[in-house]
This record gives sequence, structure tokens and C-alpha cells, in this order.
Amino acid sequence: MTAVGIDAMEVWTGKLKLDLAETFAPQKGDDPGKYTKGLGLHASSFPDAYEDIVTMGANAAHRLMDRKGLEPEDIGRIDVATESAFDNSKPVSTYIAGCLEQVYDGDFHHANKGERKFACIAGTQSLDDAVNWILAGRNRGRGALVVATDTALYARDDAGEATQGAGAVAMYITEDPDLVELSTEQGYGSADETDFLKPNQQFPSVDGKRSIQVYLARMREALEDFESVSGKSHPDDYEYIPFHTPYPGMVRKAAVLGYRHMIRDTEIEAELADQIGTQPRREDFDSAEAFEQAIRDYMDELKNTEAYREWYADTIEPTLDISSHVGNWYTGSVHIARMSALRHAVENDVDLAGKRMLVASYGSGAQAEIHAETVQPGFEEEVLASNIDEQIDARYDLSWSEYEQVHDRHNHEKSVELEPFTQPDSEFVFDGWGPMNERK
Ligand code: HMG
Repeated sequence: MTAVGIDAMEVWTGKLKLDLAETFAPQKGDDPGKYTKGLGLHASSFPDAYEDIVTMGANAAHRLMDRKGLEPEDIGRIDVATESAFDNSKPVSTYIAGCLEQVYDGDFHHANKGERKFACIAGTQSLDDAVNWILAGRNRGRGALVVATDTALYARDDAGEATQGAGAVAMYITEDPDLVELSTEQGYGSADETDFLKPNQQFPSVDGKRSIQVYLARMREALEDFESVSGKSHPDDYEYIPFHTPYPGMVRKAAVLGYRHMIRDTEIEAELADQIGTQPRREDFDSAEAFEQAIRDYMDELKNTEAYREWYADTIEPTLDISSHVGNWYTGSVHIARMSALRHAVENDVDLAGKRMLVASYGSGAQAEIHAETVQPGFEEEVLASNIDEQIDARYDLSWSEYEQVHDRHNHEKSVELEPFTQPDSEFVFDGWGPMNERK
């Protein structure tokens, strides 16, 4: 079967930065460690006055097309994943195509455009749609442009305020990709949940503590479902495991759950038995509650073993680097976790080509999806072409009162005037909706 997957990827971060230790924690009267260690976050990105989900998405896509020498003719579909859309009719992909048509000779009249919504997992769903379209043989030799773009903002003083972020990821999906090939096996965990939702409202209503439990429950189901088609996973099967990362602390909780599951009935569980016993079995407990508690106790012990710590340092920690500096990008989040992992491999000379990653996506509401990816020989060149570090370092560091102005502007749907903090540099800028997204 033809290899299909991500050929290239580019990101665009919002140009403003809120430092959680220096700026956010003192205002909240909190120890900075709550954010830097507890949540694992150093800073969040925010859009400047001339940025929004369209400009960030279009700028990421333009960087990608420019670098890969792509013309509109090469792209047969444009799928945008977002949970920050402003138009209930016209998909954001049409606005992004409109921007790109200003700088290319051709147009996207031939391209099928759409918008995907299922909270953060929509980015991966769009990727899956693109892969399926190519596998079905309907692409006529063209690739798909997938853009995941969001402004992830919470109401002021909501517990989620520390986990905000803004940015876009653009991916080009093709046959014989340079970056990663996607497995056709997928596992799902999906249920109607109401812990995080935005029914006709700007900021989410969130039950933060419950959202953590829902994330873990759906992720466990997805892993079991994935194994039902791919066979049992072993921790050594995967070089990296990028998770949806609302904040790195969430991934710490999900990782131990995944590891416990993968070591069941393996030599690792047997080797650890002297230290922490073997895993509790349901048949040994009178109630589901007692069994769940025993599992939690086992995972607490497991987290402190050297075997787990080493696996976590090698397989999970490298996926968290970018996200710890930019915050939650919702639909783009798991894709920057993948980028972090690939970048880590290049920086540390990890021989990654041909190796596998397990990619664990999640969206509130709620659904988890797990699939595997095989890294392609061209990955190093792709990673070296990314300028994500320069983008992160170039952000304007907001003071508290500046942050309040930026947040207010989003709260009032851009009717609040805001002077830009940075200057656009050969990029699309927000200047009203529709064809007025000028490139300056
Ligand atoms: P909180 O209640 O303010 O924080 O909000 P906390 O008191 O639970 O503290 C967080 C962690 O820091 C805890 O560690 C503390 O112990 C630790 P944990 O128990 O989790 O291991 N801590 C410290 N550590 C070191 N030094 C200190 C210190 N103080 C405390 N001094 C919460 C946390 C996640 C609830 C909040 O940020 C929130 O509501 N976030 C938004 C919701 C969210 O991100 N949920 C995650 C799962 S749902 C999801 O991922 C989907 C999503 O992306 C949306 C979508 O799909 O569209 C959100």
C-alpha cells in the first residue's frame, strides 16, 4: 500500500507572550512553581492586534508553500480545524485561501474546502480526512493542506487562564511523505461529555478537574481500541509518544496511565514486581471503586520506579518542550508535540528514520484518538527548516496591564481598540474580514 502522511509542517505562533512565572503568578498571589512545575508551563502565546486565526493559519500555510515550492495547483483540498471560528457559514479555509490567492498566480477554485470541529481533536480529524482522501485515490495527484488554528482563551480568573495560547500549524499531506507516514490502524474513545464547552459563547465553560478525568478515561479507551486492531503495544515499540498537551502536567498523568497499560503481562511488569507488586486485577476486588483505588496506588508507585522515569525522560519529556513555552494551541497542540519530538531527535542525533511514534490526540466533549506514525528519512531536513525557536524568542513580552488589554480585545470580539506591540513583517494581517486580510 502507498505510504501516506505528513510531507511538511510549519507553525505560526501569536506574536505576544505572557510569562507565567514573572507576570502571571505575582498577580494571582501564587508561587510561580504552581505554573512552571505543577502545570509545566513557562509562557503562553497571544495574538497581536493585527493577528487572528485566519492570519496565523494563512501565514503558517504560506511559509509551508513557499518552502516546499508549492503552487495552488498542487493542493486539492484545504481543511481547517478550529474551535475559534467566527463565521457559522463560510469555513475559515475560504478566508485562508483568499489570503493565499493574493500572493500566488493561481487560485484554489479546484480545491475542496471545509472546516472541522471537535474541540482540540479536530486537527487530527482533518489530518485523517486528508489521508483517507488520498488513500481512496480521489486526490488526482494533488496533496492536501491541513491548517489547525486557534486562539485558546479563558475567562479572566477562570482556573484555565494559566493554560491559554494562540497559534497555527499548517501541514501538507501527500503520498510518499518526507516527515511521517500514518498507520491505517486507529483507536477511539468517544462519549458525550459536558466538562468543557462553548455554546454560543466566547470563552469556554470548564470544569477543570473533571476535564482531567474525562481526558484520561477517553485516552484509556482509545488505547484499548487501538490495540484491538494493531495488537498489544509495548513501551519499547515507540520512540516518542506525543499527546494532546493542554499543559505538560496533563501529559504527566496520561503517560503513566499509558505505560501501566503497555507493561501489563510483559517482562517489565515482572521485573518491577519485587519493588511494587504486580498490577491489581479486577477479579481480586469486591467493587469497582476498590479496584480503581488499587490501580491509582499502583500508578503512584510505578511513577517512582527507575524504569518508568527513564522511559518518561526518553519518550515523553521531549514532546513537551515547545508547548511549555507557547501554551495550549487547541487543535494544533498535539502537532506541536510531534514537532517537539522530531526536533529533539535532530538535536540529539537520535536515529529516528523508520522508527515509530504513537500519537495520542484528544478533544473535549469528548474524544481521544490513537494512531501510530513511522518517521520518514526526510524528517531531519524538514525539522531543520522550521524557525519555531526564532518565532518563540521574537515574541513581545507583555506586562500585566498590556495582557489585560489584549484579553479585553478578545472578550469584545475586536471592538476594543488595541495598538500593536510588534510590527508585521511580510505577512498577512487582520484588517477586517474577507478579502481585506492584507499582506504587509
Ligand atoms: P488549578 O486548580 O488552578 O491548579 O488548575 P491545581 O491547584 O490543580 O494545581 C495544578 C498542579 O500544580 C497540581 O499538580 C498541584 O499539585 C501543582 P497535580 O495534582 O495536577 O499533579 N502545584 C504545584 N507544584 C509545584 N509547586 C507549587 C505548586 N502549587 C500547585 N507551588 C486546571 C488546574 C488544569 C484545572 C486548570 O488549569 C484548568 O481548568 N485548565 C483548563 C482545562 C484543561 O486544560 N483541562 C485538561 C484536560 S481537557 C483538554 O485537554 C481539552 C482542552 O484542550 C480543550 C479542547 O479539547 O478543546 C482543554
